Amino acid sequence: MISKVTTTVLKVKKEKKEKIIALTAYDSITARILDQAGIDIILVGDSLGNVLLGYKNTLPVTLDEMVHYTKVVSRGVQNALLVGDMPFMSYHINVEESVRNAGRFIKEGMAEAVKLEGGKEVCEKVMAIVGAGIPVLGHIGLKPQESLRTGGYKIQGKDSVSAQKIIKDAVALEKAGAFALVVECIPAVLTKKVTQSVSIPVIGIGAGKECDGQILVTHDILGLTNGQTPKFVKKYADISGEMTRGVTKFIGECKKGTYPDSKHSY
Ligand code: KIV
Repeated sequence: MISKVTTTVLKVKKEKKEKIIALTAYDSITARILDQAGIDIILVGDSLGNVLLGYKNTLPVTLDEMVHYTKVVSRGVQNALLVGDMPFMSYHINVEESVRNAGRFIKEGMAEAVKLEGGKEVCEKVMAIVGAGIPVLGHIGLKPQESLRTGGYKIQGKDSVSAQKIIKDAVALEKAGAFALVVECIPAVLTKKVTQSVSIPVIGIGAGKECDGQILVTHDILGLTNGQTPKFVKKYADISGEMTRGVTKFIGECKKGTYPDSKHSY
């Protein structure tokens, strides 16, 4: 039997050295499939900007869009912890706006936690959101919302100065009250150090296996993409291929007149 995942359950998993597994969802059917498969965390990631909405990056995604898709996903979730991703500029202005916007994910989107990108610089906001009773998942290492300033998606923490900063950011986020951290695109040796430096779960994406769990974009691992995926993505299915085969067969049968047959007609 699968039981309800809470932030406490995740902490216990880290203590027991049980891996935490997380995936993204942007619709209720996918959410239901992931939930029933036993996923721990379902993230309504702002990656939906690229994956679903066809943007070049996550920056144009609005708060209204994120709240809308979080609500959609919530209808398919029973057991997993549902996390809504705060989009670019929804927690950048000031503390008050950050708390108000995080609150929309809970009140309207039916999320149980929010994720936001950043280290020390966002800790005041993290503290205030947690203070309002909303669990926060931190996100350090590669932060896609900073891609304009940093010049794209690059591996982070390769030199000792930036590696130290990532460790300090992790410690600061734990102190600010984050219940877990996502670490994106950092060397595996640094992931190990980050994981040992905090008592909250560390969930990696492109960060090797020396952490408490893994998160990936569902569309990437199921082969439902129209472009290239990063090196760390392993493809577990070929949904694009299956869709193409199915649709091509349907077109062919309609043209030939073998669909609809008597079995599929009134
Ligand atoms: O937006 C997203 O989907 C993410 C992850 C995959 C960590 O931030």
